[in-house]
Amino acid sequence: MRAFVKGGLAALLMSALASGAFAAEAGPADLAIAQSLATMLQSARAVISTNQERINDPALGDKGLSGAAVLEKAIANYRQATGRDPNTIDPASYEGRLIRAQMDAVVEVMDTNQETINAKGKGFKGFIPATFTRLVNEAFEARAGKEASMKFTAPPVLIRNRKARPDAFEAAAIRDYLEKADWPKGQIYSAMVSEEGQERARIMVPEYYVPSCLTCHGDPAGELDVTGYPKEGAHEGDLGGVISIGLIPQ
Ligand code: HEC
Repeated sequence: MRAFVKGGLAALLMSALASGAFAAEAGPADLAIAQSLATMLQSARAVISTNQERINDPALGDKGLSGAAVLEKAIANYRQATGRDPNTIDPASYEGRLIRAQMDAVVEVMDTNQETINAKGKGFKGFIPATFTRLVNEAFEARAGKEASMKFTAPPVLIRNRKARPDAFEAAAIRDYLEKADWPKGQIYSAMVSEEGQERARIMVPEYYVPSCLTCHGDPAGELDVTGYPKEGAHEGDLGGVISIGLIPQ
């Protein structure tokens, strides 16, 4: 009986370890880099949000949102949020390489989409912050290779674009931590995991719906929004998305 209890406990511990329940959190250096990358993504996305009406204006041709122009505004937002100029981050450092890959990705996405956003005679062009975010993350990953990953995902029921679907780690982190009623608002979830024999720091930065999101993601559920997707019936303050970042531990 005693042996059974012991074995049972050992098995329980093993499965808890395997499921990551006791996995260590990412270290402070990893968290700082992830926070920096998340802030740059948010800083760039904010430029698109601020200019959404302009982008949607059918009477206006050139919107003045070239890659260089958007990056300049994104850097200003980042500096305001962090007090740091991203260009001063040592380009040879891990963070320096990654944030430059990200800034280059912002420029690439804007330059590639000039024809779309400058089209005259067309109002809504489908160029919105969520799409911009996805394109920037994809361009970032193409540059970062195996050095890092970055994705904007969400709870499975909220997923619109299948490319944003959470993987097993992300789905569990959302379900077991970020979505729990007692999870402190805004707190990052992180864990060290082993992927393909390589240790990785996985960091999840939660984002919540604010009123401006609800024109597309709010009530009434099922009604089509301006982008043609059915609204989710979400509410202000609900977990709306997660910036998911994978790093090589520092
Ligand atoms: C103009 C309508 C609109 C608004 C406003 C809007 N979204 Fe979305 N959202 C979309 C569309 C369309 C997609 C799918 C984009 C794509 O194809 O990648 C999307 C995708 C997302 C995703 C990625 C996961 C997925 O479903 O593909 C998240 C997370 C998200 N939105 C959260 C938000 C949050 C948070 C806000 C407010 C800050 C917001 N959205 C505002 C239309 C909108």
